[in-house]
Amino acid sequence: MNWVHYFERNRETRRTIPWERGITVEPHVRGPLVRSLQRFQIGESGEGRHMKRGAAKTGNAEYARAVHLFIEEEQYHSAIMGQALDLLGAPRLKGHWSDILFIGLRRMMGLTCEVLVLLAAEVVGRNFFRTVHRGVDDDALRTMFAQMIADEEAHVAFQTDQLRAAMAAMPAPARPFMRLAWWAVYNGAFFVVVWDHRHLFRALLVSPTEFMSDCDGTYDEVCSVLFSRRDAVRPAAAGAVRRAGGAL
Ligand SMILES: [Fe+2]
Ligand SMILES: [Fe+2]
Repeated sequence: MNWVHYFERNRETRRTIPWERGITVEPHVRGPLVRSLQRFQIGESGEGRHMKRGAAKTGNAEYARAVHLFIEEEQYHSAIMGQALDLLGAPRLKGHWSDILFIGLRRMMGLTCEVLVLLAAEVVGRNFFRTVHRGVDDDALRTMFAQMIADEEAHVAFQTDQLRAAMAAMPAPARPFMRLAWWAVYNGAFFVVVWDHRHLFRALLVSPTEFMSDCDGTYDEVCSVLFSRRDAVRPAAAGAVRRAGGAL
């Protein structure tokens, strides 16, 4: 998969979000939605300097370029969530504990572990956006979330690709430890999101169990690729990549 080609093409084929129509949400959803958007907006705004440095050190120019484009795409998500906040008349956050925790965890480790942490966030984030997309009835919001869901699906495939290569290069006895680490990080990310966004889940009448079953489905798909010895089927992300014109 040529990820540089995918990201460049995806940038040119983004959905047009009908911001001119404004945003209308039910009164009981507005507050929790703003709260959640604020957290994701700041979470996706980072410049990714640590990851870019790690990617550059691999000596793989194509991967380094793909990481650059991937980070630009996350910043685009941050920008559109910022636009949604503006239309909802809500301010952007300057910092949040979940973001500090996430960045700190990623910076503590090398590139492989950083991608592992990021992948857990992508899995949970993608399903969070799906949950909100299903629960809101506003054109601009639905278009914005549809774009981010498609992009996050491809991000899951992108990070999975990198990790799979790193796993394959690892001595076999190390792999069960990586699997345990991935399970722990994924569960940590899941519980942080369920706790921190509990008000929106409640407003949208989504139970944590329902959200867990969505997340676990993606988690299982990723595991089947990461820890399988054969050339396994890629996760659901494959569909998004094909739609964007990539060739898997
Ligand atoms: Fe994103
Ligand atoms: Fe992402």
